[in-house]
Amino acid sequence: MEKGKPQIFIKQSVIKKRIKELAKQINHDYRDSIPIFIGVLNGSFIFLSDLIRDINIHCEIDFFKLSSYGDSKISSGEVRMLKDLNCEVKGRDIIIVEDIIDSGLSMTYIRKIIMKQKPKSFRVATLLFKKDISNLKFKIDYIGFEIENKFVVGYGLDFAQKYRNLNGIYVL
Ligand code: IMP
Ligand code: MG
Repeated sequence: MEKGKPQIFIKQSVIKKRIKELAKQINHDYRDSIPIFIGVLNGSFIFLSDLIRDINIHCEIDFFKLSSYGDSKISSGEVRMLKDLNCEVKGRDIIIVEDIIDSGLSMTYIRKIIMKQKPKSFRVATLLFKKDISNLKFKIDYIGFEIENKFVVGYGLDFAQKYRNLNGIYVL
């Protein structure tokens, strides 16, 4: 278990500003649609709640809950579905909202599940993206910040379920 105080990495004001920019882009891109934002629990709950309040088009919200990490900092390499969707995906514009893309395993799994249900479109908004280590065969449309391979917490992100309440992003 890691010791020491988390060090600030991205300040709340910087995050909020960036989220407003992403929302502006989404408002524009979906101006003729009613997209469904699908938050990936638990990590995305703060990002989603900030993002959604800057969205000024009609939209719907639903949640997935996945698990792959347990209490470890390293992916177990296995993704499990803990809570499924309640919405009808077929024919809809889907925007997955994620806290962070690390190996890309979770997002690859989510995409597979969603594409099976024949959405009209599929896009991803992630607050953080570990570009160098993620292994994705598709592009991520809305990225808050590209970061190096560091383990970060706060703003919804946890280590062993702790630190989600920190109001910025911190490195352990
Ligand atoms: P991936 O499947 O390896 O891309 O991992 C994605 C999930 O792992 C994210 O939704 C996070 O919940 C978790 N995760 C990955 N990296 C971090 C990190 O640096 N801090 C906290 N959680 C992380
Ligand atoms: Mg997550």
